Amino acid sequence: MSKTICHPAAGFVAGIILAANISSGAETPPKFLGANSCANSSCHGGGGAKQNQFLVWSLKDFHSQRPAATLTTARSKQIADALEIKDPSASSRCTTCHAPLRDVPESLRGENFKVSECVSCESCHGAAENWLRAHTRHDYTRADRTAAGMRDLQNLYVRANTCIACHQNVDADILKAGHPELIFELDGQSVAEPKHWCAEKNGNGAQAWLVGQAVALREMSWQLANEKSPTESEINRWNALVWLMQTAAPESNLKMPPKTRAVTIAYAASTLQGESDQVARDFATTDWSDTKTSKILSAFANSNESFRDTAVSQNLQARRAERLVLALDRLVASLPEYKNNEPMQSSLNQLFKLAQSIPDFDPKEFAAALEKLSAALAAH
Ligand code: HEC
Ligand code: HEC
Ligand code: HEC
Repeated sequence: MSKTICHPAAGFVAGIILAANISSGAETPPKFLGANSCANSSCHGGGGAKQNQFLVWSLKDFHSQRPAATLTTARSKQIADALEIKDPSASSRCTTCHAPLRDVPESLRGENFKVSECVSCESCHGAAENWLRAHTRHDYTRADRTAAGMRDLQNLYVRANTCIACHQNVDADILKAGHPELIFELDGQSVAEPKHWCAEKNGNGAQAWLVGQAVALREMSWQLANEKSPTESEINRWNALVWLMQTAAPESNLKMPPKTRAVTIAYAASTLQGESDQVARDFATTDWSDTKTSKILSAFANSNESFRDTAVSQNLQARRAERLVLALDRLVASLPEYKNNEPMQSSLNQLFKLAQSIPDFDPKEFAAALEKLSAALAAH
């Protein structure tokens, strides 16, 4: 199982590109047909491993009911009150992620369509009108399906774009009102989702992680560029991810942002959005190998000097650590030789503990723990 970072919303951040998740290029957008259109027992509503997708999703996947139920909790009421939203279950500010089918216009709803399905098959796989009938034909290729509007989720870039639409950026005022801060991490979040697909379609974990982080950098850059007055903390979250990506992929084009605030934001807007998108596309199509994973793991394990740099603020260090521990976890998990390596696993646990709280974060202590990980790696 993947480990997580969990701390209360610090109170900022903005924007969401759900557009990344829509647009199929067709003149009349295709209709949403509803999960019941997939649920026939000889299709995806059966009991066997190859046909149980509907059962796995409807009985186990938190996307099928929980997101909308969340909008009826006391915590949601509190968030909504602070924003002067009367009913979070009926406000598109919340339903856009928690009950996205509400936003589908009447004209695009098929017979079996049900708003209550929350994050449903078509939220991830694409509206089914143009491919539902044809996609079962044996001569129908992956390219045919994609052309008909079925999203090619086996492509890690496409998959990352799909998930991140709901899993990274939340508007600044919603966070300030008490919404949890979101951290997108494609590999760990894919592992955490109850599986309705076979393991080999997950792709390489380390590669998925890297593509996910590049896409997260694009989205956070977009958000920074589109906010009226981003806070220091928001800038630090973003800056920490730039550091992470540079450390992971020094050969890529990503440059450290310039120092002054105004220039930093302009840089996020003009340059980094495009560059991080390109980096994500490139890594999604690279032939991956464990050698690449090991190289990134070493670069991270040897980054303890960065945490000893007293010119970097405590808050920025804490934000770097937050992304770094999730990264280490996924890289170590994708290398089978470390599965039962006790020194490695215990220093990883220690690093997670040290990264849990932003205000209490101690960079020196973290650097020392990172050195232990580095030693465990060298000893292997
Ligand atoms: C349309 C929006 C949407 C899309 C697309 C989406 N999710 Fe989610 N997801 C949510 C919401 C909302 C929740 C929170 C459910 C709750 O607790 O109310 C959630 C919860 C989760 C959780 C459990 C909480 C957590 O963060 O650990 C995981 C894991 C997850 N999603 C993974 C994924 C993955 C992987 C993808 C892409 C394949 C994806 N999601 C696509 C909206 C979405
Ligand atoms: C950008 C997509 C997005 C938007 C917009 C959004 N949420 Fe969320 N929300 C999520 C995701 C994803 C999670 C799961 C976080 C996790 O578990 O890591 C979540 C979690 C929550 C939780 C915590 C659930 C729990 O029990 O841990 C509450 C409460 C909540 N959202 C309420 C709201 C309300 C109210 C609104 C509107 C004002 C809203 N959300 C808007 C994506 C969104
Ligand atoms: C949160 C996003 C999400 C939702 C919701 C979702 N899927 Fe998937 N699905 C994926 C991902 C990611 C994959 C793996 C990549 C691939 O095989 O395309 C996948 C794979 C599949 C596969 C291929 C299985 C295999 O092993 O070959 C089928 C079939 C499928 N989904 C059907 C469904 C059906 C039916 C529903 C609704 C009942 C559904 N999915 C809901 C994201 C989602």
